[in-house]
Amino acid sequence: MSKEQDQIFFRNFSLALGVIAVMMVVFFVVAQFAASDDEAEAKMRSTKVAEITEPVGQVTAVGDEMEVAVEAVAAEEAPAGGEASGDVGKTVYEGICMGCHGIAAMAAMIPQVGDAAAWGPRIEKGIETLYNNAINGFQGEMGMMPARGMNQSLTDDEVKAAVDYMVGQVQ
Ligand code: HEC
Repeated sequence: MSKEQDQIFFRNFSLALGVIAVMMVVFFVVAQFAASDDEAEAKMRSTKVAEITEPVGQVTAVGDEMEVAVEAVAAEEAPAGGEASGDVGKTVYEGICMGCHGIAAMAAMIPQVGDAAAWGPRIEKGIETLYNNAINGFQGEMGMMPARGMNQSLTDDEVKAAVDYMVGQVQ
């Protein structure tokens, strides 16, 4: 390459570099603008979303009403005798009583849920007796039924509901 060619090359090369540098600046500026546009749009969109989702707030209110209604129904369903609804009984049973009354291998020592032979004679004693024995504890021929299944935080109604649930499994 001659010296002249070198100079031409150098000039073109610098020019190219310059163009690239300018383009970078332009891109950068454009990107800034685009970003702020996006931000504005996002803001607008979130405002729109807020508008659109507003009715959902009303749905939640309806949900609350429904909850109240469900509570009212539950209260109606639970008779004055303290026989609470099956859901409570199932929950208490599964949380506490099942540890003893839901282990088939213990059938010889603990009356198991669903074991009609084990529960038949007990049910004959009357539901109130079963409630009392579950609440206060009971020493029988098989062993010891601890008061409230060893969970003193259970209310009478919760224990009764669990008894209802257990008895219900053999009836
Ligand atoms: C630590 C083990 C254990 C737990 C936990 C337990 N039970 Fe029992 N339960 C027994 C045993 C043992 C008997 C049988 C007593 C007997 O007849 O000798 C029994 C008997 C009973 C009876 C029959 C009582 C009767 O008069 O024949 C009822 C009802 C009962 N349990 C309800 C419950 C309920 C409800 C729970 C949960 C809140 C519960 N049990 C938790 C061990 C347990």
